[in-house]
Amino acid sequence: MSAAGWLVALEGVDGSGKSTQAHLLAKALEERGFQVALTQEPSSGPAGQRLRRYLAGSTRHLSPAVELALFVADRREHVDRMIKPALAAGRVVITDRYYYSSVAYQGALGLDPARILALNETFAPRPDLVFILTLPPALAVARLARQRQVTENRDYLERVAAIYASLRGPHIHRVDAAAAAETIHAQILEITLTALEQA
Ligand code: TYD
Repeated sequence: MSAAGWLVALEGVDGSGKSTQAHLLAKALEERGFQVALTQEPSSGPAGQRLRRYLAGSTRHLSPAVELALFVADRREHVDRMIKPALAAGRVVITDRYYYSSVAYQGALGLDPARILALNETFAPRPDLVFILTLPPALAVARLARQRQVTENRDYLERVAAIYASLRGPHIHRVDAAAAAETIHAQILEITLTALEQA
């Protein structure tokens, strides 16, 4: 692996199990001697905390453009404060959500996904690997015992999933999130280790 570090992003609809997979991947890489930094978006910074409070509220009262601006502001801060320094230190950075979440979730509100992607790529490092955990939204919503965030409704998540399905690139991998957590983990780990060996 180069001294420039390595960036892995996990993506998928709410309830797809990304957070579990991010933790399992971090642990498996640490056990193999990699220096790992595990992080998430919305971030733990001030903008991220505000976004989490907003998402946990009862109404989605901000306009799509304002929502996007807030997620982008949080990401700029996250990139500068956490992601870039960790990559510079040669770490494997695993982020539970990244800019593809803005593309899919704010795109599903009617904004242009291609423009959201282009905006983010002006400042955020492109991940070396992206895993999109795919799960039919009906199943994902059923997994969530109760609604915790304004984003968690089936019609909306169908649109989110459709945008995730349209994303293409050599670094983008899709994993069936209906499988057992251990099976998903084994697939993600194998692809990651193969990519790291080739770095
Ligand atoms: P998260 O805490 O990962 O939710 P979960 O654990 O249920 O998957 O993410 C919070 C919510 O924020 C999630 O519904 C997706 C949404 N989100 C956006 O709409 N845009 C973004 O850019 C990001 C990072 C998240």
